[in-house]
Amino acid sequence: VRQLVYISTAVNGALPVDPASILSASRRNNARVRITGALWFDGKRFLQALEGEDAQVDETFRRIQADPRHRALVLLSSREIATREFGEWAMAYRDPRAEGDDAVDRIATLTAKAAPEVRATFESFARIRRAA
Ligand SMILES: Cc1cc2nc3c(=O)[nH]c(=O)nc-3n(C[C@H](O)[C@H](O)[C@H](O)COP(=O)(O)O)c2cc1C
Repeated sequence: VRQLVYISTAVNGALPVDPASILSASRRNNARVRITGALWFDGKRFLQALEGEDAQVDETFRRIQADPRHRALVLLSSREIATREFGEWAMAYRDPRAEGDDAVDRIATLTAKAAPEVRATFESFARIRRAA
Protein backbone atom coordinates (compact mmCIF):
# COMPACT_ATOMS: atom_id res chain seq x y z
CA VAL A 1 0.00 0.00 0.00
CA ARG A 2 1.32 3.42 -0.96
CA GLN A 3 0.64 6.47 1.17
CA LEU A 4 1.14 10.02 -0.12
CA VAL A 5 0.77 13.16 1.94
CA TYR A 6 0.78 16.58 0.32
CA ILE A 7 -0.10 20.16 1.10
CA SER A 8 -1.41 22.78 -1.31
CA THR A 9 -3.01 26.22 -1.41
CA ALA A 10 -6.54 26.85 -2.63
CA VAL A 11 -6.98 29.07 -5.69
CA ASN A 12 -10.10 31.18 -5.54
CA GLY A 13 -11.28 32.27 -8.97
CA ALA A 14 -14.51 34.10 -9.62
CA LEU A 15 -16.01 31.89 -6.94
CA PRO A 16 -14.27 30.56 -3.84
CA VAL A 17 -13.19 26.92 -3.97
CA ASP A 18 -16.14 24.70 -3.11
CA PRO A 19 -14.85 21.94 -0.86
CA ALA A 20 -18.15 20.06 -1.02
CA SER A 21 -17.80 19.49 -4.76
CA ILE A 22 -14.20 18.32 -4.37
CA LEU A 23 -15.33 16.02 -1.61
CA SER A 24 -18.18 14.43 -3.53
CA ALA A 25 -16.06 13.75 -6.65
CA SER A 26 -13.32 12.35 -4.43
CA ARG A 27 -15.67 10.05 -2.53
CA ARG A 28 -17.12 8.70 -5.75
CA ASN A 29 -13.80 8.15 -7.55
CA ASN A 30 -11.87 6.92 -4.54
CA ALA A 31 -14.46 4.32 -3.58
CA ARG A 32 -14.23 2.90 -7.10
CA VAL A 33 -10.45 2.44 -7.02
CA ARG A 34 -10.17 1.62 -3.30
CA ILE A 35 -8.39 4.82 -2.32
CA THR A 36 -8.81 5.94 1.25
CA GLY A 37 -7.33 8.75 3.28
CA ALA A 38 -8.13 12.15 4.63
CA LEU A 39 -8.66 15.57 3.14
CA TRP A 40 -8.33 18.51 5.47
CA PHE A 41 -9.19 22.04 4.35
CA ASP A 42 -8.77 25.04 6.61
CA GLY A 43 -10.27 27.55 4.23
CA LYS A 44 -6.91 28.37 2.65
CA ARG A 45 -4.78 25.26 2.48
CA PHE A 46 -5.40 21.59 1.78
CA LEU A 47 -3.67 18.74 3.54
CA GLN A 48 -4.40 15.34 2.05
CA ALA A 49 -3.34 11.77 2.68
CA LEU A 50 -4.01 9.23 -0.08
CA GLU A 51 -3.66 5.50 0.44
CA GLY A 52 -4.09 2.65 -2.00
CA GLU A 53 -2.39 0.48 -4.60
CA ASP A 54 0.58 2.17 -6.32
CA ALA A 55 -1.04 2.50 -9.75
CA GLN A 56 -4.29 3.88 -8.37
CA VAL A 57 -2.54 6.37 -6.10
CA ASP A 58 -0.30 7.54 -8.98
CA GLU A 59 -3.22 7.98 -11.32
CA THR A 60 -5.31 9.86 -8.76
CA PHE A 61 -2.42 12.04 -7.64
CA ARG A 62 -1.63 13.02 -11.23
CA ARG A 63 -5.22 14.15 -11.67
CA ILE A 64 -5.15 16.09 -8.40
CA GLN A 65 -1.86 17.80 -9.32
CA ALA A 66 -3.39 19.07 -12.56
CA ASP A 67 -6.43 20.55 -10.78
CA PRO A 68 -6.49 24.36 -11.17
CA ARG A 69 -8.41 24.79 -7.91
CA HIS A 70 -5.16 24.62 -6.01
CA ARG A 71 -1.49 25.57 -6.51
CA ALA A 72 1.90 25.29 -4.85
CA LEU A 73 1.39 21.62 -4.19
CA VAL A 74 4.22 20.12 -2.13
CA LEU A 75 4.58 16.39 -1.62
CA LEU A 76 5.42 15.91 2.04
CA SER A 77 5.86 12.16 2.05
CA SER A 78 5.51 9.04 -0.05
CA ARG A 79 5.76 5.81 1.91
CA GLU A 80 5.15 2.11 1.47
CA ILE A 81 2.96 0.98 4.39
CA ALA A 82 1.86 -2.48 5.49
CA THR A 83 -1.73 -1.51 6.26
CA ARG A 84 -3.82 1.56 5.71
CA GLU A 85 -3.31 4.14 8.43
CA PHE A 86 -6.40 6.23 7.76
CA GLY A 87 -8.95 3.44 8.01
CA GLU A 88 -11.51 2.45 5.45
CA TRP A 89 -13.57 5.56 4.82
CA ALA A 90 -13.15 7.24 1.48
CA MET A 91 -12.40 10.77 2.68
CA ALA A 92 -12.70 12.66 5.92
CA TYR A 93 -13.20 16.38 5.89
CA ARG A 94 -13.61 19.29 8.22
CA ASP A 95 -15.58 22.34 7.25
CA PRO A 96 -13.47 25.32 8.28
CA ARG A 97 -16.61 27.28 9.06
CA ALA A 98 -17.99 24.70 11.48
CA GLU A 99 -18.10 26.27 14.91
CA GLY A 100 -17.64 24.42 18.15
CA ASP A 101 -15.48 21.89 16.41
CA ASP A 102 -12.23 21.03 18.14
CA ALA A 103 -9.89 20.60 15.20
CA VAL A 104 -7.00 19.35 17.29
CA ASP A 105 -9.11 16.61 18.91
CA ARG A 106 -10.54 15.55 15.58
CA ILE A 107 -7.10 15.36 14.00
CA ALA A 108 -5.92 13.17 16.86
CA THR A 109 -8.79 10.74 16.24
CA LEU A 110 -8.27 10.78 12.49
CA THR A 111 -4.56 10.03 12.74
CA ALA A 112 -4.69 7.65 15.71
CA LYS A 113 -3.19 4.81 13.66
CA ALA A 114 -0.87 6.91 11.54
CA ALA A 115 2.91 6.93 11.82
CA PRO A 116 4.20 9.57 14.29
CA GLU A 117 5.57 11.86 11.58
CA VAL A 118 2.31 11.76 9.64
CA ARG A 119 0.31 12.45 12.79
CA ALA A 120 2.64 15.34 13.63
CA THR A 121 2.08 16.86 10.18
CA PHE A 122 -1.70 16.80 10.62
CA GLU A 123 -1.54 18.04 14.20
CA SER A 124 0.64 21.01 13.37
CA PHE A 125 -1.69 21.89 10.50
CA ALA A 126 -4.64 22.05 12.91
CA ARG A 127 -2.68 24.03 15.49
CA ILE A 128 -1.50 26.70 13.07
CA ARG A 129 -5.08 27.38 12.12
CA ARG A 130 -6.25 27.52 15.69
CA ALA A 131 -3.63 30.12 16.59
CA ALA A 132 -4.55 32.29 13.61
C1 LIG B 1 -7.40 19.50 -2.84
C2 LIG B 1 -8.01 18.54 -3.82
C3 LIG B 1 -8.12 17.20 -3.48
C4 LIG B 1 -8.68 16.28 -4.36
N1 LIG B 1 -8.76 14.97 -4.00
C5 LIG B 1 -9.26 14.07 -4.88
C6 LIG B 1 -9.31 12.70 -4.54
O1 LIG B 1 -8.94 12.27 -3.46
N2 LIG B 1 -9.82 11.86 -5.46
C7 LIG B 1 -10.29 12.28 -6.67
O2 LIG B 1 -10.72 11.45 -7.46
N3 LIG B 1 -10.25 13.57 -7.01
C8 LIG B 1 -9.76 14.48 -6.14
N4 LIG B 1 -9.74 15.80 -6.48
C9 LIG B 1 -10.41 16.23 -7.70
C10 LIG B 1 -9.59 15.95 -8.94
O3 LIG B 1 -8.62 16.95 -9.07
C11 LIG B 1 -10.51 15.95 -10.18
O4 LIG B 1 -11.21 17.16 -10.26
C12 LIG B 1 -11.53 14.84 -10.11
O5 LIG B 1 -10.94 13.63 -9.75
C13 LIG B 1 -12.23 14.68 -11.45
O6 LIG B 1 -13.17 13.67 -11.30
P1 LIG B 1 -14.49 13.63 -12.18
O7 LIG B 1 -14.03 13.65 -13.61
O8 LIG B 1 -15.14 12.35 -11.78
O9 LIG B 1 -15.28 14.85 -11.78
C14 LIG B 1 -9.16 16.73 -5.61
C15 LIG B 1 -9.05 18.08 -5.95
C16 LIG B 1 -8.48 18.99 -5.08
C17 LIG B 1 -8.37 20.44 -5.46
